Amino acid sequence: MNIQIASKVSLFLSLSITTLCVAETTQLSTAEVSKLTPAQQLGKHIFFDENLSSPAGQSCASCHDPKAAFSEPDLNTPVSNGAVEGRTGTRNTPLISYTAFSPVFHFDNEESLYFGGQFLDGRAANLTEQAKKPFLNVDEMNNRDEAEVVDKLRLAAYADLFKQVYGLDVLNNTSQAFQAIAEALAAFESTPVFNRFSSKYDYFLAGQVELTEQESKGLELFNDANKGNCAACHPSSSDSKQPPLFTDFSYDNLGTPKNPEILAKKGLDFVDLGLGAIVNNVNENGKFKVPSLRNIAKTAPYMHNGVFQTLREAVDFYNTRDTDSKWGVPEIAENVNKDELGNLNLSPDEVDAIVAFLRTLTDGYHPETTPYFSADTGLLTLPLISIESNTAKTAMTSAVLKEIEGSNPSRYRMIDLQESKLAAPSDAGSIPSFFTDTGLLEIPLISVGNETVFTAQLKRITDNNENFFELVYLKLLQ
Ligand code: HEC
Ligand code: HEC
Repeated sequence: MNIQIASKVSLFLSLSITTLCVAETTQLSTAEVSKLTPAQQLGKHIFFDENLSSPAGQSCASCHDPKAAFSEPDLNTPVSNGAVEGRTGTRNTPLISYTAFSPVFHFDNEESLYFGGQFLDGRAANLTEQAKKPFLNVDEMNNRDEAEVVDKLRLAAYADLFKQVYGLDVLNNTSQAFQAIAEALAAFESTPVFNRFSSKYDYFLAGQVELTEQESKGLELFNDANKGNCAACHPSSSDSKQPPLFTDFSYDNLGTPKNPEILAKKGLDFVDLGLGAIVNNVNENGKFKVPSLRNIAKTAPYMHNGVFQTLREAVDFYNTRDTDSKWGVPEIAENVNKDELGNLNLSPDEVDAIVAFLRTLTDGYHPETTPYFSADTGLLTLPLISIESNTAKTAMTSAVLKEIEGSNPSRYRMIDLQESKLAAPSDAGSIPSFFTDTGLLEIPLISVGNETVFTAQLKRITDNNENFFELVYLKLLQ
């Protein structure tokens, strides 16, 4: 049976194996976890441990869910619920992917600006200092003191690992143990699990995919100082080997309006002074740290107080803050940035294009790698083949084979073969392999249309000095 006939037969079977191909890549994979050092593994255990709150039931991951690029998974709330029923903080939970790159909080004398730190107002110098805070925050994990956290950790299944990493008597000294907990969390947050650099934009920067017309227009507007001017604070390129982070880690007051939902919980006269309250300087009031825009599509609502429901609304605010009265007055009227935003004069199409570009910043992008067969043309396209031999390192190629009509068993002629620019994806299991020693081409998945999925093996044969691939078997996947 050739693929053409098989695909017709199988039209009756409504398979939906597509979920198999589009694996949810934003969850932690076992491959990823197995690469962590013991300290990072420990950080992972602590990050997901729901017994470390009072009452039990809340972990770091409750508010920083991997599904949402490590931010609040409930996209309808400006503030996350604490461990205690009914308690909430005053700020929208940020995504904490890429936050490990924030420099230590400091004042730059040359630029006369504050930079870096953790939290939206920079009140923690670095990740380790930050990680200590949620455990003792009454609106978050609500432990009485450090000792309560360490007591709970002593009972954890991973207590032995903790001792292995930080010393046999570490758990007998509360402040040492608490410091170690924070260091383990910081170590975990600094791994590729949080910092994947696997968005469509990263593949684009590597020359491996094209942006759509709308996305490239969005990128242009994003960079153009006379249009969106977004890159002034959210840089889209970098001079170093480090890919761009879409933040310069400075602080600014955008003139964001108050969020009535937060006032309803915290009182009508609640104002958030941001950086100003931390450095005790009115000239910094209303300023918040510039966030990375990587994964931004996953973390609605937007801004420190979650006042904007959608990305489009956030971009439109930059566009028309000063020309449309619907936005209301700023939460803090002093220090509002009037030079770089507020009246961008972007058309609705241009706003849409910027939003389309922002959506390319979501990690877990997969260039098409699943082989597909077109019954119309008889072409079997293999976007990625890993070439394997006993001696040489694996190389990547892409190929197109054309079925020779009427051949039995089916034969395919190679009509295109190219070295591939795509790197081997982490789920390389679904990629065809060609074994140079045996001449076998294993194809774990072939899709035909959207629904039918086969697995096949072909063998290279030489006939009259010409190379063909002959079908050894073809099976419908159940
Ligand atoms: C109840 C929800 C909640 C829990 C639980 C929680 N966080 Fe957060 N996290 C937030 C909010 C809200 C902010 C922003 C707060 C601010 O700026 O004042 C934040 C900020 C952060 C930041 C700084 C991000 C940045 O851009 O500066 C890091 C890092 C972080 N959290 C890690 C953790 C870790 C580690 C834990 C567990 C020990 C944790 N969080 C537990 C809600 C939570
Ligand atoms: C002058 C610096 C500056 C410029 C220019 C700028 N931003 Fe921002 N951006 C910020 C700051 C600061 C915040 C955080 C403000 C807050 O939380 O109140 C922010 C927040 C955001 C957010 C919400 C992030 C979140 O996690 O909620 C989005 C989306 C965003 N910016 C997109 C853009 C786009 C698109 C442009 C261009 C049209 C742009 N920014 C131009 C400084 C800037």
